[in-house]
Amino acid sequence: MSSADESDRQAFQRTLVTAALPYANGDIHLGHLAGAYLPADLYVRYLRLRGKEVLFICGTDEYGVAITMKAEQLQIAPQELVDRNYQSIAESFAGFGISFDNFSQTSRPIHAETSSAFFLDLHRRGKLRQKTVEQYYSPSLGRFLADRYIEGTCPQCSAENARGDQCESCGTSLSPEELINPRSVLDNSPLEMRETTHWFLPLDEWQPALEKWQAGHPNWKENVLNYCRGWFADGLSPRAATRDLHWGVKVPLPDHEGKVFYVWFDAPIGYISSTREWAAEQGEPEAWRTWWQDQGTRLIHFIGKDNIVFHAIMFPGMLMHHSEDYILPDNVPANEFLNLEGKKLSTSRGYAVWLPDYLEKFSPDTLRFTLSRTLPETRDTDFTWKGLQARNNNELGNNFGNLINRIFTFAHKYFEGRVPDWTDADLTDLDRATLDEVAGCMERYAVRMEKFEMRAAMDEAFLAGQAGNRYFDESAPFRSRKTDMARCGVSIAVALQIVRQIAVMLSPITPFAMAKVWTWLGMETDLEHGGWEEGLRPLPAGRPLGKQEILFPRIEDETIQPEIDRLAKLVEDQT
Ligand code: MF3
Ligand code: ZN
Repeated sequence: MSSADESDRQAFQRTLVTAALPYANGDIHLGHLAGAYLPADLYVRYLRLRGKEVLFICGTDEYGVAITMKAEQLQIAPQELVDRNYQSIAESFAGFGISFDNFSQTSRPIHAETSSAFFLDLHRRGKLRQKTVEQYYSPSLGRFLADRYIEGTCPQCSAENARGDQCESCGTSLSPEELINPRSVLDNSPLEMRETTHWFLPLDEWQPALEKWQAGHPNWKENVLNYCRGWFADGLSPRAATRDLHWGVKVPLPDHEGKVFYVWFDAPIGYISSTREWAAEQGEPEAWRTWWQDQGTRLIHFIGKDNIVFHAIMFPGMLMHHSEDYILPDNVPANEFLNLEGKKLSTSRGYAVWLPDYLEKFSPDTLRFTLSRTLPETRDTDFTWKGLQARNNNELGNNFGNLINRIFTFAHKYFEGRVPDWTDADLTDLDRATLDEVAGCMERYAVRMEKFEMRAAMDEAFLAGQAGNRYFDESAPFRSRKTDMARCGVSIAVALQIVRQIAVMLSPITPFAMAKVWTWLGMETDLEHGGWEEGLRPLPAGRPLGKQEILFPRIEDETIQPEIDRLAKLVEDQT
């Protein structure tokens, strides 16, 4: 870490966290969760737990060809499609415990206004370049066609239905000019090349400034830096900011009929629009500026690896060249991909696990925990249903659930459901050593979280659970209760203290279950906001405890087998 980097870090007063705006063309699946939303939520919940000032912003990405194609398939208007999907995506995120402070839509007026103003600022100050390019035009439809609306014969394998962006038969990625006999997907009509004029972000000109800025962030994740180094070495190319389409934010210039912003131009500005919407809802419409333009704010973008170029290069370039003093991302922790039962996810083939389906049958905490243990932080990882079952039954159930259950049961049975009497002077070496060990786990957990190493943070929480179990066995309150009730009580008090620290560490990961544990412990303070400090204080003797219940019910083979079978069948049908 450079010293500039260190000192910047200390100056931060607040953190703005964004998670990639999901396309409103379908539901959220496990790949999305593991890539961006869960790590972002873990991080935000961790910061809130520490009592830090944080704002968590997201929304749906509602423009672009992905949306219009889907709407045409379903024969509904694009706005209807995105509104429906917005609802369902927002509901499943809520059900999964993703704790956004605001979740907006890019089709809302505030976004058109924000992105138009942003564009005009760059445009008026001569930051954009205009170029005339040739593109396929459909005379019968009277419009230019996006790559995905163009079909033709593949120049590589002669398949007749290759798309303008890719041939599905041989996998070659294509550009529309390469297709033989290009025609429109919409009405099969032949196409002709016509000239059209577009605005571009001159990333080639911006490259030196971008490189210089990135050089100040040597602490970014290796995968992210590697991608960026590669693009810089090849030399950045200008990126289109406008498109010939009808669905999108209209280009706010005269003589630009039929042109809208390219979705990758407007979507990242959606983070700003969503923050403005949040500020307006707080009754302080100008408060968004604190989060985007105050040097005391640290901006973190959580994304999947396919979004790196937009968040580490294009959007920072846009922010840098705006006349107002925007902050730039402090970090862009991008994850690799999650595979499913050893194979790549494919939404077009239905080879995925969708969040609404999952939540109908299983608990959000189980999935949050399982994914947290296998986040694709440095390389692609694999989700399996057997793995989920094992994590639930062995790790959540045995390591944490049983421990918590045993301790509460004991306290209710032998200590009238209260924290037994204990003072510092009563503690044995074993008591102290275990409390120190768990405190050490918390410290290392914090260090890992701050470095976006969530899996390593999870390991520390897991170790704390193991320490708790070992303590219960070694201090053996089940034995001392027959010979020395006072000693037995101290063991239970120490164990409860450990449970509380585990609850603190697990609360970002399994927030639903830990909220219960927190109330059983008789805690009146808010676990999610500032609970960390509270968890470090000694539990007062005599405090009444709540009645526990099973936190993580077992998952049986019969329950997951249909899920395994469904995926296996898809693979079979494929071959
Ligand atoms: N919708 C894009 C995707 O799912 C992500 C957009 S992120 C934003 O890949 F920053 F552009 F909003
Ligand atoms: Zn082909």
